[in-house]
Amino acid sequence: MFRIDRKLTTGDLDKALRQDVTEGLTFRPKQLPPKWFYDTHGSALFEDITQLPEYYPTRAERTILERHADEIAEVADAKTLVELGSGSGIKTRLLLAAMRRHGRLSRFVPVDVSGDFLAESAARLAEDHPDVEVHAVVCDFEKHLDLLPTGENDQPLLMAVLGSTIGNQDPRQRAVFLREIRTNLHVGDGLLLGVDLVKDPVRLVAAYDDAQGITAAFNRNVLSVINRELDADFDTMAFDHLAIWNTDEEWIEMRLRARENVHVHVGALDLEVDFTAGEEIRTEISAKFRREGLADELETAGFAPGPWWTDPDGDFALTLATAVHAPSELRYG
Ligand code: SAH
Ligand code: AVI
Repeated sequence: MFRIDRKLTTGDLDKALRQDVTEGLTFRPKQLPPKWFYDTHGSALFEDITQLPEYYPTRAERTILERHADEIAEVADAKTLVELGSGSGIKTRLLLAAMRRHGRLSRFVPVDVSGDFLAESAARLAEDHPDVEVHAVVCDFEKHLDLLPTGENDQPLLMAVLGSTIGNQDPRQRAVFLREIRTNLHVGDGLLLGVDLVKDPVRLVAAYDDAQGITAAFNRNVLSVINRELDADFDTMAFDHLAIWNTDEEWIEMRLRARENVHVHVGALDLEVDFTAGEEIRTEISAKFRREGLADELETAGFAPGPWWTDPDGDFALTLATAVHAPSELRYG
């Protein structure tokens, strides 16, 4: 059985994009939230990224799932799997298969902001799993967690955020997000997090600045989205793609840097934006994790950190935490 709930109307998306572009392009330094990469073309570009020789995270996470999905299914022992930012759901299939083998899974709730892409991937998944209720939800997981179907006390739910998508939030946003997740779970429910680990910066930078320029196209896609949705006139090729390792924060920053002075008119906002040559927009951070740091964040949010699985090269980790106590006071105010 398949159904899709669109909690985000075109009007909601338009309003949110207008606000983010107005704030982000008038802020110093200029910045845009990464969720706007993901129109249907951006989601397809992300899938291309996952196949790149330099982009190891997807392969590493797949290896972990191939080796440990059964163990994960057994520990989580859940009837419902909710996946935030599920995209194509390709790796999730390994988890679903293990959860079905374990014999309890009855419902899968893939959640994504990229509505048409989600509709297609979730429908394919439902076709391949006729005995699972697939209930896709199009929403912004930073705003709408309370709109998702929940588990019941005696029927544990597993919430998954794979692919290190949580790394696209800064520590403050993560604290709020993990807390929100915890608030929407019952004691005993599981949280499965996939996280990319701190490693040699040369490999990290290569993963975000590949030789074929696919990541550059993905990065510039945010400008195409603004052109199309807000009647702007960005010359996307007037911006260079940059991937920089921030040693202090232990995150990759993706930026777009103006090659020369650039003037942009955003028609729908009646906004004029000027870039001086060399000026940058920060379009994404991709934080890299250490086990202890993540355990602290989980505990603060009301989870007991549990098993930790890595791929043989130690590049990526999956960890399963359990909802226990109420979240602590927010450290970031
Ligand atoms: N989980 C998949 C996809 C990761 S790409 C994997 O591991 O390969 C990140 C996904 O999160 C994209 O599909 C994107 O559309 C979605 N996403 C990003 N920000 C979001 C938000 N605020 N709300 C809902 N989905 C979001
Ligand atoms: C979805 N997210 C975890 C990816 C990442 O690695 O931060 C997005 C991405 N950006 C550039 N390449 C891939």
